[in-house]
Amino acid sequence: MGFNEEIKRRRTFAIVSHPDAGKTTLTEKLLLFGGAIHVAGAVKSNKIKKTATSDFMEIERQRGISVATSVMGFEYEGYKINILDTPGHQDFAEDTFRTLTAVDSVIVVVDAAKGVEAQTEKLMQVCRMRKTPVIVFVNKIDREGKDPFDLLDEIEEQLKIKVRPLSWPVGMGKRLKAVYNIFEKKLYYFAGDDKTKAEKPKEFKDLNDPQLDATLKADAAKLREDLELVEGVYPEFNLNEYLSAETAPVFFGSALYNFGVRELLESFIRIAPFPRPSAAVERVVDPFEEKFTGFVFKIHANMDPNHRNRIAFVKVCSGKFKRNTNFRHIRLERDLKFSNPTAFMADKQSIVEEAYPGDIVGLHDSGNFKIGDTLTEGELINYKGLPSFSPEMFRYIENADPMKSKQLAKGVDQLMDEGVAQLFTLTMNGRKIIGCVGQLQFEVIEYRLLHEYNAKCRYEPAQLYKACWVRPNDKAEWEDFQKRKYKSLAKDKHGRDVYLAESSYDLEMAQMKFKNLEFFFTSEF
Ligand code: G4P
Repeated sequence: MGFNEEIKRRRTFAIVSHPDAGKTTLTEKLLLFGGAIHVAGAVKSNKIKKTATSDFMEIERQRGISVATSVMGFEYEGYKINILDTPGHQDFAEDTFRTLTAVDSVIVVVDAAKGVEAQTEKLMQVCRMRKTPVIVFVNKIDREGKDPFDLLDEIEEQLKIKVRPLSWPVGMGKRLKAVYNIFEKKLYYFAGDDKTKAEKPKEFKDLNDPQLDATLKADAAKLREDLELVEGVYPEFNLNEYLSAETAPVFFGSALYNFGVRELLESFIRIAPFPRPSAAVERVVDPFEEKFTGFVFKIHANMDPNHRNRIAFVKVCSGKFKRNTNFRHIRLERDLKFSNPTAFMADKQSIVEEAYPGDIVGLHDSGNFKIGDTLTEGELINYKGLPSFSPEMFRYIENADPMKSKQLAKGVDQLMDEGVAQLFTLTMNGRKIIGCVGQLQFEVIEYRLLHEYNAKCRYEPAQLYKACWVRPNDKAEWEDFQKRKYKSLAKDKHGRDVYLAESSYDLEMAQMKFKNLEFFFTSEF
């Protein structure tokens, strides 16, 4: 197969959802279809359960498994599918945001009863920023849920994207009978009450076909009525609108009962984009370019404290990645070659000779990589990462063992390179503040510092509201601000100026008083 064909058959995406909407179940069902796993439950064990907040052994065990499930690649009908796993726990949302920089499209899972939830809205914001094409899967229609039309309105409003249903449920909950695939004009239905046994789908090109009445009985009329309304309300599905992230096609199904899942996959491989051009600071890079480029979007530390070996996950953006070949590490200005690059096929890892755009390669690393690092064949290219968002929680991190201050500094440094949390250093006195999205992150840092770096840390409360990156448009005003707010100024990991506002009131006052300074809640502006 030629280079271009290899790229065109790749589909690299992530499944995201608010916890419990069914992301894990759906992932597992897709892997089962792809023959990548043979029993349900294989992915499930990767989940950090809500109950695991203080059970670190459990987290460690799961971190081990999650290397294997970080990328789940499989072949399906001639397509190479790469599903990038994202942590289900919302305390690790930053991790999910970063993974979204490496995908070409996204499937958002929404619970039919709960509708759009907070975490889904946040994830969608990132997709919007990056113009990532999105498909919505309304899950759990085997349970009583909201009315499909209401759900569509809710998705449109809360996810701020136009929607276009491509499948339609016949009944919900106990009355669920079938799903009609509008895209393929096929009906998937249950013969009896057993929701684990769907019949072979029937094609209904014409909805007035009397066979539809024979199959669905009294529900046929309702389906016709609903679909008429769908066609009346929603414009024709337009592939380009989906690809440019203006419209999200919506599918209905039940991941648990495997209903509507194959249809989702079938439509997905046809409409979802193959690898898209990637934006670098210097220029936009096309995947079909001959020369290899790629960037690190995730770093996974090895659990074995004796071998401080990490895996850097590289997304291939253009050209061919090759084993034992020198590539330029742009930040370090050094050539590196990799003798054991790893490819991920479901639960197996194997040494890979070459990889194509859309693929993810795991590189064993002893500390050369940071999130966002770029590799090329020599050209000076820096891929644009995802900006850091202001954390929600802040704490001072202190050394609890004076004999181990070096270990602590090194540990904190490396964990931040991995993107575990954000670090701010107060300009006034050099005190370090860790910023997190969720409580669990603090606990993981403390645990890992102790077990991997033999360092002991202690947290102290920091009453802060937000971290704001500052653009000083006026020198005099900036100097004045620095004088007045010297207690609240810090540098982030990259040396950028950050104002740590104590309250929303403080921030508003600062914005009012210092009109020529701009405050941002993300690090890239
Ligand atoms: P997540 O990764 O998005 O957090 O969700 P996950 O797939 O783990 O699903 C959360 C719960 O919802 C699970 O039940 C799962 O079995 C259930 N679920 C997923 N899809 C469907 C569906 O289509 N219909 C119904 N009725 N339930 C669904 P649990 O009790 O929390 O876990 P488990 O004990 O069943 O594993």
